[in-house]
Amino acid sequence: MKMTNRWNRFIYRLWAPVYDRTVNHIFLPGRIKTIQLLDLKPGERVLLVGVGTEADPPLLPEEVTTVGVDLSPDMLARPRSKLPLPGRSVIRLQGDAQNLLVEQASFDAAIFNLILSVIPDGRLCMRENLRALKPEGRAVVFDKFAPDAGGISALRRFVNMFSALFGTEITRRFGDMLRGSRAQVIRQDTSILRGMYSVFLLQANPSLGGR
Ligand SMILES: C[S@@+](CC[C@H](N)C(=O)[O-])C[C@H]1O[C@@H](n2cnc3c(N)ncnc32)[C@H](O)[C@@H]1O
Repeated sequence: MKMTNRWNRFIYRLWAPVYDRTVNHIFLPGRIKTIQLLDLKPGERVLLVGVGTEADPPLLPEEVTTVGVDLSPDMLARPRSKLPLPGRSVIRLQGDAQNLLVEQASFDAAIFNLILSVIPDGRLCMRENLRALKPEGRAVVFDKFAPDAGGISALRRFVNMFSALFGTEITRRFGDMLRGSRAQVIRQDTSILRGMYSVFLLQANPSLGGR
């Protein structure tokens, strides 16, 4: 099964009421790590790609401006019960993050937590949203990817059929996501579930010549 926006809208309508109470707590160490790596400064602008129920914003420092993009109106509707937290309001944009929905070169940082394995075309999502970064901008990714080297095992492909039904894939490679983007990996750490998930810190690099 291929992930589509239509499926994601449907499956994340089902996830929305239970996401914060079930799977979300597992992801906390990865979220904390990505936000530490970004080392945000007061006044900086942060783009949250696939912001979901806004699990990341409460972890951000207070004096940053946060814009969150998500396809699912149901996921975007959830945070109203847990926010506002002081100094941590989020400007929410509903739309498809495979297109750049914000002004080019207007953000200091971008967060791609648990979106690249969900959105139909992770590479396009990455490429488009990295264009939102200023020339010195940085980005973080927390997600699960297949190893960049070697083939995808039959077992992984089999399990992927089920994980895709639940709204996420396990056969994507981070190297593929990054191809054609104006960014390079500065740091990579293994994360939760015995290293099934990873955390990446990226630095924008316009000289790489991607779009
Ligand atoms: C696993 S959730 C992660 C949410 C959030 N980033 C987090 O860390 O909790 C994946 C999110 O991607 C969103 N999504 C799926 N397809 C999308 C698209 N084409 N554009 C923007 N968001 C999308 C879903 O609606 C959902 O909120």
